[in-house]
Amino acid sequence: GSAIRPLVAGNWKMNGMRDSLAQIKHVSESSALAISNAEALICVPATLLHSAAVMTAGTPLRIGAQNCHHEEDGAYTGDISAGMIADSLGSHAIVGHSERRLVYRECDASVRSKAAAAHKASLTAIICIGETEEERIGDRTLEVLRCQLAGSVPDGATAANTVIAYEPIWAIGTGRTPSIADIAAAHAFIRAELSGRFNGEGDRMRLLYGGSVKPSNAAGILEIDHVNGALVGGASLMAADYLAICAAC
Ligand code: G3P
Repeated sequence: GSAIRPLVAGNWKMNGMRDSLAQIKHVSESSALAISNAEALICVPATLLHSAAVMTAGTPLRIGAQNCHHEEDGAYTGDISAGMIADSLGSHAIVGHSERRLVYRECDASVRSKAAAAHKASLTAIICIGETEEERIGDRTLEVLRCQLAGSVPDGATAANTVIAYEPIWAIGTGRTPSIADIAAAHAFIRAELSGRFNGEGDRMRLLYGGSVKPSNAAGILEIDHVNGALVGGASLMAADYLAICAAC
């Protein structure tokens, strides 16, 4: 319930070959997208970034990346800079996804510098935060979110260049979601933290919920106060499901 235009961001993770570009094309040309109130974005593997961006130019669908390096260039074998993403015509970069934090041991300071690098390259950073199941059970969710926000969001964050994605780790790919009340509490808390630090920019920054969002639960989640869209993993791989979530906005 706010005037912020919702964003439905798909995260394909390490999925998608060149033939998956047909899905991107289908989504970008869909009439469901044209009439949706949502801004639409799909974050594809780096190998598909440029092709997908060229294919969707002039359509309502934006294309983004799933990570970036914090430096502009240099001896970092295998990595991709924010400038390269922008040069490939990507508009957004996800940073600090829990899979990066857990599997690649990215810490808040690293996520913060990646977000700053994204900003410097004129990308919008989608900064992910969220508690583990153990932290949730130990009643530490809000404390964890406070630390991650303080540590991962750079000083230059604005409503235009930053999106915060709240993804409870135990809800990712599991089919389990927090209750509506728990999502509402987390998002209200995140909003208060951001407004406290960034004032008006924090009031308007988009807050996405992520974790097992699908067509059947999207409408209920998207109408929660301070939920300004969704970060969608598995369901974004199917064009029909992704479009149904956009249509729920
Ligand atoms: O970044 C989105 C993701 O982590 C959520 O995945 O499959 O639960 O929608 P999924």
